[in-house]
Amino acid sequence: MAEHLTVGRVAELTGVSVRTLHHYDEIGLLAPSTRTTAGHRAYSAADVQRLREVLAYRRLGFGLREIADLVDDPATDAVAHLCRLRGLLSDQRDRAAAMVAAIDRELDARARGIRTTPEEQLRMFGAQLYDAIGSAYPATRRTEPRIAARIWDALGDARTVLNVGAGTGSYEPPDRDVTAVEPSAVMRAQRPPGAAPCVAAAAQRLPFPDRSFDAAMAVSTVHHWPDPIAGLREMRRVARRVVVFTYDADDTGWRQRFWLTRDYLPEFAELLVGWPALADLADAIGGRAEPVLVPWDCVDGFFEAYWRRPEAYLDEHVRRAVSVWTRVGPRAEQRAVDTLREDLTSGRWAERNRDVVALDTAELGLRLLVA
Ligand SMILES: C[S@@+](CC[C@H](N)C(=O)[O-])C[C@H]1O[C@@H](n2cnc3c(N)ncnc32)[C@H](O)[C@@H]1O
Repeated sequence: MAEHLTVGRVAELTGVSVRTLHHYDEIGLLAPSTRTTAGHRAYSAADVQRLREVLAYRRLGFGLREIADLVDDPATDAVAHLCRLRGLLSDQRDRAAAMVAAIDRELDARARGIRTTPEEQLRMFGAQLYDAIGSAYPATRRTEPRIAARIWDALGDARTVLNVGAGTGSYEPPDRDVTAVEPSAVMRAQRPPGAAPCVAAAAQRLPFPDRSFDAAMAVSTVHHWPDPIAGLREMRRVARRVVVFTYDADDTGWRQRFWLTRDYLPEFAELLVGWPALADLADAIGGRAEPVLVPWDCVDGFFEAYWRRPEAYLDEHVRRAVSVWTRVGPRAEQRAVDTLREDLTSGRWAERNRDVVALDTAELGLRLLVA
């Protein structure tokens, strides 16, 4: 019995009542495989694994019947359940972050005496992260020509190109036949007139036949996907060549070197928990990774862009166009900005970062994956 847990212990560990566990047994959702000598239900390691899946789907709002179908599916093993749960939970977290952002905006508007319309008030319920923050995007996010040149070069002689997670299309090559894929309605609506046609879809399910494009590209988007590996495999499926601009989350070296994450926003590390290793991302497309240095005057205002222009991070417009700031939450954001402002005023930032201001480019973990 050593490897079995009693019903009481399971209830204690999970916070689920013994009554609920008995109910799961009665309806056949989770029948513990054995009994103690005193006749109490006892859960084996396999029972516990199934229970964890049941409880996680329950927490996500699934009904008991739906959960039974999910956990009984012989085609879904434990790893597949974990991947699916991870995707669903990340999606839920992003929706919550989007709602928090929408609420903050409304509180801010109310404090300034501005009334929000009924339509605006309802919008937060349908909001994906980029539906909430996307309208701030074009203020600072544009094509950085030196990075664009690297991406376009990596596309080789591709004539037809699929741009996944295309946003407003900053890196779409002007001289090829581009099709864009973008799930956020707000981002799609902001694509400039004359931009490539854009399909409302997500990376993990690309609505195109195998090998229908010469190349597929994805820029600064993979970290938003609920299942990055599945999305990258989809890109591989629909295109001969794949080019992905992303970052190396498992190299903590650059996070320590980058003063913003090291000294002001350590919460950034929490956003990377569970993120696949760069080698796994590269493997998903069968490609190699090349470092991309960030120029000191980078034109595209992504998170790392202002590494030599620290005052930029004090600007609300700069922060609102980068999802990291919404995802860490308003408290961490406020603290980081206040501390940075103080250090810029006192000269502490300049003192600590003397070596940084002498550089023209910085290695901040950005990578181009090419397959
Ligand atoms: C930082 S923006 C990058 C946009 C554009 N590629 C660029 O470089 O300007 C991230 C984009 O990924 C999109 N996105 C989020 N989840 C996605 C998914 N599952 N599949 C495809 N794109 C997604 C967002 O809506 C957003 O437009």
